[in-house]
Order: sequence, then C-alpha cells, then structure tokens
Amino acid sequence: MSVGHIEVGTDRSYGVHVDRAVLEAVDGGDLRARGVFVLADEKAWALHGAGLKGLGTAPRLELTGGEGAKTLTRLGEVLDALALSGLSRASTLITFGGGSIVDLGGLAASLFKRGIDVLHCPTTLLAQVDASVGGKTAINLTLGKNLAGTIHQPRGVFADPDVLQTLPPEELASGLGEVLKTAILGGEEQLARLEAAGADLARCQHEATAALVADCVRTKARIVAEDPWERGPRRALNLGHTFAHAIEHCAGYGSVPHGIAVAVGLSLALEASAAAGILEDSGLPERARRLQRILGLPSSLADLRGEHDLGPEGLRAGLAQDKKGAVGRPEFVLVRKPGEMALGVELEDELLQSILA
Ligand code: GLY
Repeated sequence: MSVGHIEVGTDRSYGVHVDRAVLEAVDGGDLRARGVFVLADEKAWALHGAGLKGLGTAPRLELTGGEGAKTLTRLGEVLDALALSGLSRASTLITFGGGSIVDLGGLAASLFKRGIDVLHCPTTLLAQVDASVGGKTAINLTLGKNLAGTIHQPRGVFADPDVLQTLPPEELASGLGEVLKTAILGGEEQLARLEAAGADLARCQHEATAALVADCVRTKARIVAEDPWERGPRRALNLGHTFAHAIEHCAGYGSVPHGIAVAVGLSLALEASAAAGILEDSGLPERARRLQRILGLPSSLADLRGEHDLGPEGLRAGLAQDKKGAVGRPEFVLVRKPGEMALGVELEDELLQSILA
C-alpha cells in the first residue's frame, strides 16, 4: 500500500500528503510572499511547531485546543488577528493542531474577506483521518455542537504520522473511533487491513500508522469527491454519529471525547441495523467488538455509564437535537455490510428505547 499523496477530487482538487517529516514541504517562501498566518494548538506547536521550518516566524495565534476553542468569541479573535496581520484575499491561513483548530481555522478562513486559502497540518489522529479532509468547518452554539459552519475545502493537507506519538492516550483513542468507522465504510479489504495492523496502530508504530491513516484518507477522499456538499452519499460519514452526538450532548460536550462517543455510537448503529433487519453481514458486530478491544475502545453504553450520566431519557433528548433529520426526528446511517450503508433511516420508537435502555 503506498503512503504519500492522495488527491481529493472536488471542484478545486487538492492533495493530502501523509508522510514522515511532511511538514517540511509546506512552502514558507511562496506562502510568505502572499501573506500567511498560523493558527496553532499551543501544545502541538510547542512539541512539533519546529517541523514547519519555513514558518517559525510567521504571524501566529496559539490557542488551547479542544471543544472550548470552537466558540463565537474565539472565532472573532481569530478574524481580528487575521485583519491585524494585514492579510489580503491572496493570503493563506495554516492550521496546526487537532480537529477543533481545523474546524475553527477553516471557518475563519472561509469568512475572512469572503474567503482565503487554508492549509491544514493536522496533529491528532482524528484530525488526520477525518477533520482535515473534506472542508467541513464549524463552531458550537449554545444549543449544540457544530451548529454554525461552512464547507471550505483546504488547498492542501500535510499529515505527519510521527507527530501522533506524543498524543495523550485518550486523544489517540478518540481518533481510533473514527478509524474504525472509516474502515467499516471503506469495505471488506480496508476492514481486514485494520484487523491485521490495528494493534500496531494502537501503539503508533510508524509503518502501520502511516498506512492506515492513508487508507482512511483514501476512503474519505472518495466519498467527499462524490458528494462535497453532503447532499447524498457523504452522509455515510455520519455512521455512528447520531448516537455519538446524543452521548456527547447528554454527558456534556467535551466530557466524552468525540471519537470515543463514535466508537459506542458504531456499536449502537450495528445493533439498530440488526434489529431493523438491515444488517446482512451477521458477523460484523463481533468483528467490530474485537477491533474495539484491540484498539482499546469502549463498545457499549455500559462501558461509559460508570463515569457518565447517560440515562435513556437524556440520550433521547440528545437524539432530538440531531441536525441531520427534521426537527425532533433523528436520522441514522445503518450498515448492510462493510462498504454498504443505508442512509437517512428513521427508527421506530420502541426499537430506539430498547437500544438506549
Ligand atoms: N466528518 C464527516 C464529514 O466530513 O463529512
């Protein structure tokens, strides 16, 4: 499997570069000539900022990453910083950090002077396999997660798998939830590759990590190219996410990491797929559970309930916030078999009750 360059074929196609020391390829000279600004996660910058060799002295704003960065206040601060740095419409914003920095920076880039270029340098597994590819940007509102955002494709993505070695275990686990989701979307061969190398990925072994990150990017690139505006097939990327958002909403945003909620959301989606008579591959739930064990992920609500208040009523209220379906009527992505999903499924009340019990 070749690691390296994956093209995302949207109307303005761009490359995702996955490789060791790839940050050195971000061209400081050319970017500086047109104006450049770096939005960085402060911890990631302290550990790995030196890798962006040409941009160490470029104007930069460092923030604490995490959901707390995705607010209107922080968005205003970033936009003000871009204006104060004298950037023009030809300039570029570079994000350096995890999913929250990608989401916030992407949104700021899409708004500043009606849109400037953005390059992403994702430093978490979740951002490398999901957030940095496909152009989604967002902040949270009082009523829910990611309720304000745009789609603004980056000019390029530079992902060095080696920077993941310094991730705290819960950050790594969060990304592993999205890797498992993407492997189920990718199909039988990708799922088998994750089964073969999942244990090495969980230890951040270089070759396995680079290959599996590239594998996920390839699957996401294919889906995004088919449907950049999420009018149809891209909704498959929300596999496990309706349940996951309900878990995050019910537990309080930021208390269950997104990818951990996705891991449990996947189990619930598989259970719902079986109960609704959609699942054709009856062995898939057991394969998913085995992978969850290998990757150190939870696989059921019971695994989270020891530490979080996740009662059925609270989860139902969280489901009602789903922004994909009509108000109060959540929609689910269900699974037929690896690589084949059923989109926009509404579930019977009774079935939902038994799954959330
Ligand atoms: N994270 C889901 C998507 O990019 O569509």
